[in-house]
Amino acid sequence: MAVLVVVGSLNVDLAVEVERFPRPGETLLASDYTLHLGGKGGNQAVAAARLGGKVRMIARVGEDHFGWQLRQGLLHEGIDVDEVRAVGPVSGVAWIQIAPGGENTVTVAPGANRSLRPEDLSPELFDGARAVLAQLEIPLGTVEQALRRAREVGALRILNAAPATSLDRILDEVDLLVVNEHEAGILAGREPQTSEEALAIASSLARKVPQAVVTLGAQGLVFAGREGEGMMAAFPVEAIDTTASGDAFVGALAEALVEGRPFREALRWGAAAGALAATRRGAQPSLPRREALLDLLGQL
Ligand code: RIB
Repeated sequence: MAVLVVVGSLNVDLAVEVERFPRPGETLLASDYTLHLGGKGGNQAVAAARLGGKVRMIARVGEDHFGWQLRQGLLHEGIDVDEVRAVGPVSGVAWIQIAPGGENTVTVAPGANRSLRPEDLSPELFDGARAVLAQLEIPLGTVEQALRRAREVGALRILNAAPATSLDRILDEVDLLVVNEHEAGILAGREPQTSEEALAIASSLARKVPQAVVTLGAQGLVFAGREGEGMMAAFPVEAIDTTASGDAFVGALAEALVEGRPFREALRWGAAAGALAATRRGAQPSLPRREALLDLLGQL
């Protein structure tokens, strides 16, 4: 079975519901907090594993209780965690505020995620990889090395450029770039206001990478590159918490591609997974299983 290697972050998420986001200097009372396993790398790994993928995670956690919980959580999902090692005092933690309607703000303290170094990525960790998936909550040099390792074994190189940062240095190493509309805005220097503007940004990104996808939440997604360009509508759902919705999209897209599905079908897998994740609270607790996904896709 082909392997998806995920090189990325693991965080514990502390989430609260707020009536609205606080202004600078303001104190607001919120709901009681909930604690969930998260981190963009971990979420995307779990998203793929729940859809039946064989996933290997390369990550760092702290030598704290959160680190143990994060590793156990992945193990429980059947993910290979041999390269999820505990280093340093603290694990990654994310503070999440969720407003009515499901929109959120996320602040990440990377902790041990900062300790995943390029030299940790030995070639044998990428044996059997059909795709390598990375995000930007670990050092950029490590992401670059992961993508190089992917090239060495002929794996598809997928980058979810979240959170967005200046990227030109590593785009040469990317086959498929996935960003949301805010990240697209940072990369392009202007936030898209319409699907047409997002498509124009995807087209400009596709001059730097073979394939670019910009997700637009309830407005669907746009894509441009060697698979052609176009727009795809979102699955209509009532969103209550969009945390990890984007990660569900990326993990499902990657898994579909690893299974050899055509690109547009893989996009529909992503869209369906993202929609389902928005209907449930929390990061990893919200990620759908294969049966629910195929049901929404009408493929059961
Ligand atoms: O994409 C959602 C994730 O972003 C959360 O799980 C949080 O940990 C941050 O990494």
